[in-house]
Amino acid sequence: MLFDTHVHLNADQYEEDLLEVIERARKEKVMNMVVVGFDRKTIKRAMELVEQYEFIYAAVGWHPVDAIDMTEEDLAWIEELASHKKVVAIGEMGLDYHWDKSPKEIQKEVFRKQIQLAKRVRLPIIIHNRDATADVVEILREEEAKEVGGIMHCFTGSLEVAKECMEMNFYISFGGPVTFKNAKKPKEVVKEIPMEMLLIETDCPYLTPHPYRGKRNEPSYVRLVADQIAELRGMTLEEVAEKTTANAKKLFGI
Ligand code: NI
Repeated sequence: MLFDTHVHLNADQYEEDLLEVIERARKEKVMNMVVVGFDRKTIKRAMELVEQYEFIYAAVGWHPVDAIDMTEEDLAWIEELASHKKVVAIGEMGLDYHWDKSPKEIQKEVFRKQIQLAKRVRLPIIIHNRDATADVVEILREEEAKEVGGIMHCFTGSLEVAKECMEMNFYISFGGPVTFKNAKKPKEVVKEIPMEMLLIETDCPYLTPHPYRGKRNEPSYVRLVADQIAELRGMTLEEVAEKTTANAKKLFGI
């Protein structure tokens, strides 16, 4: 049994064939998934999906790229949704310095507010980090995110950063990039992370694993991520699946 901890089945890319996508995932033994909402539209859709499918859970938060659009009402709405029994995390949230739609200072403020929210509702946090590692780690520390912990989503950083995050109770989650031929660093890091802190995800429809890179991603491909981790660590696919599923269930309280 596999647990995909980060999917965007709430994206427009699945409008045509969501049912088939979900069926393929179940056939590959992807028994649970967390649909991540990151703005008004995708949060609303994530909440519809958790009502439709008992094996789907939701995370609700605000993406750093769109931080400039978040209102106090949005934040209050996220806090209200957090009490829903199938909302298992707050996020994705974080910092993204690759895109400049939202100024850094606004991104930081929206990030801090969401960490504070997660601590109030006592749910783990899902972190999006792009080109902003030092600031992400600093804010997590300053805001004492350790209290709730969470996930470093689609981790591609160094082992040192992974260690700092694990010390703050953050799991390290690997996705498609770990399967890329040129992905030396994630392949090295994946071998060093204690199995107790490791998670798998697709981040579909993005970051499609090898050999489907370039095509639309989907949860059934999380098996390719697990396969790659098994190979790198000298474990069986079943062992990786069992351990990462147990980790996800523990973190999300399922
Ligand atoms: Ni995502």
